[in-house]
Amino acid sequence: MEVIIRPTAGDAANLAARLMARCLRDKPQIVFGLATGRTMARVYAILVEMHKAGGLDFSLASTFNLDEYVGLAPDDEQSYRHYMNMHLFDLVNIDLRNTYLPDGNAPDLNAECERYEWLIGERGGIDFQLLGIGRTGHIGFNEPLSAMFSRTRVKALTPETVEQNAALFGSPERVPRHAITMGVGTILDAKRCVLLATGPEKSDIVARAVEGPITSMVSASALQMHRRCTVIVDQDAASRLEHQEYYEWIFENEPEWEPYRYKK
Ligand code: F6R
Repeated sequence: MEVIIRPTAGDAANLAARLMARCLRDKPQIVFGLATGRTMARVYAILVEMHKAGGLDFSLASTFNLDEYVGLAPDDEQSYRHYMNMHLFDLVNIDLRNTYLPDGNAPDLNAECERYEWLIGERGGIDFQLLGIGRTGHIGFNEPLSAMFSRTRVKALTPETVEQNAALFGSPERVPRHAITMGVGTILDAKRCVLLATGPEKSDIVARAVEGPITSMVSASALQMHRRCTVIVDQDAASRLEHQEYYEWIFENEPEWEPYRYKK
């Protein structure tokens, strides 16, 4: 795992977006794993800008989202399908047929989870998995005690996650209590993982995920076992990390980050 600390949330999102753009240019048929939420909205806005201003080409790319609420139809304004269409898919030249989310409205949810896993495998696996982190330490909706080897399945959301997402639904009562989510094991199978976290409210959980013990109580800590995981944080989210100077040293000296150090 490596940790990159950027001054602001905008700078952190910018680095994540530029990294994605570089991987897309290197491999136009890339398979992205994508996340939704407030943190990612910034990343998608930057990618859309790169597409409009710089011709960033998504035409051969495929995407698999981490999760979807159970019981919401794809055209429901609170669904993650709607979120993705609004923030990215409708604004770039991606082929919508290559954009996948679990169907939270499927008649047989277990069969849908198996189908999703099969589809990811059929597409050759995920090349680049973008992740956020919830205050419970979840990645996707892998709430505390999710098995490290878990696969795509239905999970109950914790009260804290329901509360975290209530603002988007108007009130906690309207937040679905279940979601289909890729498992921790599904995420760890991705060839590369990039976790983006910004804001002071993420500082405690970022410190536990990065510098704490690997534990299923904090699903994101499983990323410590991943061969190629980069955690990008802003100063606020980094504020409780003990080894900030070490992470900055690595960023200054690691050849991969040379093009990203000074330019926006
Ligand atoms: C959603 C997802 C979640 C979010 C996390 C952070 O698809 O994967 O794990 O990334 O809940 O959400 P925000 O960015 O809204 O704080």
